[in-house]
Amino acid sequence: MLKVGLLGAGRIGAVHAKAISRHPQSQLVAVSDYYDDAARKLALEFGAEARSTDAIIADTSVDAVLIATSTDTHSDLIEAATAAGKAVLCEKPVDLSLERAKACQAKVAETGKPVMIGFNRRFDPNFNALKQAVLAGEIGKPELLSITSFDPAPPPVSYVKVSGGLFRDMMIHDFDMANFIMDDLPVSISAIGSSIVDPEIGAAGDIDTAAVTLTYADGRIAVIKNSRRAAYGYDQRVELLGSEGLLQAQNMLENTVVKSTVDGVTGAKPTYFFLERYMPAYEAEWSAFVDAVTTNAPFPVTLDDGVSALAMAEAAARSLETGQPTKL
Ligand SMILES: NC(=O)c1ccc[n+]([C@@H]2O[C@H](COP(=O)([O-])OP(=O)(O)OC[C@H]3O[C@@H](n4cnc5c(N)ncnc54)[C@H](O)[C@@H]3O)[C@@H](O)[C@H]2O)c1
Repeated sequence: MLKVGLLGAGRIGAVHAKAISRHPQSQLVAVSDYYDDAARKLALEFGAEARSTDAIIADTSVDAVLIATSTDTHSDLIEAATAAGKAVLCEKPVDLSLERAKACQAKVAETGKPVMIGFNRRFDPNFNALKQAVLAGEIGKPELLSITSFDPAPPPVSYVKVSGGLFRDMMIHDFDMANFIMDDLPVSISAIGSSIVDPEIGAAGDIDTAAVTLTYADGRIAVIKNSRRAAYGYDQRVELLGSEGLLQAQNMLENTVVKSTVDGVTGAKPTYFFLERYMPAYEAEWSAFVDAVTTNAPFPVTLDDGVSALAMAEAAARSLETGQPTKL
């Protein structure tokens, strides 16, 4: 039984607490948060103790920590937890700054302790099935990837201000998805973006709408579209054109009822947001972490993957700023 400490009792911390508690080989023993009340409430719900972050990291009976704190704390906590010998699963992104993330990567390499990064979408059953079909050669050679990722509604501007911006906070998932499906890193990134959903996001120096093109050394192309708003719900789709066919992973819907009448044909909306859409993926992610730790196997998503995606986010931000493609 893996004894687990959860750092951060916010939105995603609550999701992970559920996944940890549901897994038969892990036990949530402690929860920390800057806000004591948040830690106490979540700990109480899952039969754990509320403790300080430092106390959890220092406790030798804690085998693993899950870092679900605000992004600007990730590198520091990864370094502290690996130095204390813990197995670590850390939420994306690794850091707000690529330079800091690379320093963290170097420090962690010295400890020899692997770290898993929370790119949960790799564990989504639909995207995973698409990946398996690619690996099985079912559509020949992948050529053109298209990723659509629209949130139902923008986050509060207070979140936007500390998020690192759309590329580091939101599109980072799609950069990792492109790396996962294409099994390669692009050589060049071109970005366009604007703030047309919420003027306050623009006033805070961020964008809420973006399109990014990735070019690969062998000529393959990926296109990523992000918006902070989709009136009909959380839109998460992947389409891949290959030399011998097309693969499409569609949205999960609230239900599968389709109504056909003289007025037309209608169906349900996509599930509302990430908590609903990706709960099976968060559970599969946690299960993969537990499997790797308990069998001493390599993590399926690594700190290097986290740094690669962050490098792509910084390249996209530079392209947006300069109006030119950024070479990687
Ligand atoms: N993989 C995903 O789908 C996904 C979804 C949402 C958020 N995230 C990531 O998870 C992280 C948290 O996001 P959130 O939406 O839950 O934010 P949140 O603000 O709801 O929660 C973060 C919590 O961490 C606490 N905290 C900050 N520093 C701490 C420290 N040193 N020790 C203990 N607690 C600390 C804050 O008080 C806050 O309660 C972010 O990095 C975000 O990018 C990932």
